Amino acid sequence: MSEFVRIVEVAPRDGLQNEVAMVATADKIALVDRLSATGLRSIEATSFVSPKWVPQLADAAEVMAGIRRRPGVAYPVLVPNLQGYERARAAGAEEVAVFTAASEAFNRKNTNASIDESIERFMPVLERARADGVRVRGYVSTVLGCPYQGQVPLADVVRVARRLHALGCYEVSLGDTIGVGTPRKAREMLLAVAAEVPMQALAVHFHDTWGQALANVAACVEAGVRVADAAVAGTGGCPYARGASGNLATEDLVYMLHGMGLETGVDLEALAETGRWLAGVLGRTTGSKVGQALARE
Ligand code: HMG
Ligand code: MG
Repeated sequence: MSEFVRIVEVAPRDGLQNEVAMVATADKIALVDRLSATGLRSIEATSFVSPKWVPQLADAAEVMAGIRRRPGVAYPVLVPNLQGYERARAAGAEEVAVFTAASEAFNRKNTNASIDESIERFMPVLERARADGVRVRGYVSTVLGCPYQGQVPLADVVRVARRLHALGCYEVSLGDTIGVGTPRKAREMLLAVAAEVPMQALAVHFHDTWGQALANVAACVEAGVRVADAAVAGTGGCPYARGASGNLATEDLVYMLHGMGLETGVDLEALAETGRWLAGVLGRTTGSKVGQALARE
């Protein structure tokens, strides 16, 4: 396994989609540009979901038009259906992410559809993306617990992840949407999926609701995963996941990975500075412990 861990920075999308206050478009653009200057190679820039469902990201096209695209950096955007894909392509997106869940109850709240129906909705996205040469990432939510149905059987996580991969997603991100997982369970879940989908095609996505996100990533990295999602300043949460709080803070992830002897290509100081700037824009202090510690030095 390589010693490089690719970080998928999701603050501009997962971080901002749940904010109560509207963030100015210019600040969203500045966020993406600051992040791309830190050495991050994948930055989920925004989402082309229904603006009625997620008004916070209704300016997705303006954000895509305003960012400075650095060579070698991917700017995936979330799309739920063909309508979202067409909006994303018109805005110049070259990579998209589709999403469903391992829990029927959550998926219904999040997309107004069963798991099968949500996959049917994005099947045409996958077809069009293949023809257009657009890369598609897939998310499976609620892999370690659901706010509505509670336990989520491992077999359901494996089945949905296998399906997304078989349909053409180059990578499947396994999301602990409400942050209830603990390291042993996270590792078992990852290994169960990796028995059916190559480890190289898997990513982990932890929320820090119960303070377990960093420990969960460590367990999964030790089990072989080499892609992890995180959000600078620990922003975020899903508006349709009751009780879901912030994502794992990217600064904390980078500090830990470097400490484990792994490479990320990310400049930690610049990232922490960006996290503190974003927290200021949102009117609070950064949710990253590393960001706070560096500010005190
Ligand atoms: P629906 O209301 O069932 O859809 O929503 P519909 O097809 O009946 O359309 C209703 C209206 O929405 C129509 O407009 C459509 O044109 C419009 P009207 O005729 O009423 O004026 N519409 C759209 N407009 C713009 N862009 C679109 C679009 N699609 C429909 N793409 C839908 C179904 C899936 C669209 C909706 O439920 C939705 O947008 N859900 C997204 C919810 C969301 O973004 N959740 C957060 C992201 S997932 C997450 O955070 C988890 C993750 O981080 C991983 C983890 O942590 O686990 C990824
Ligand atoms: Mg998330």
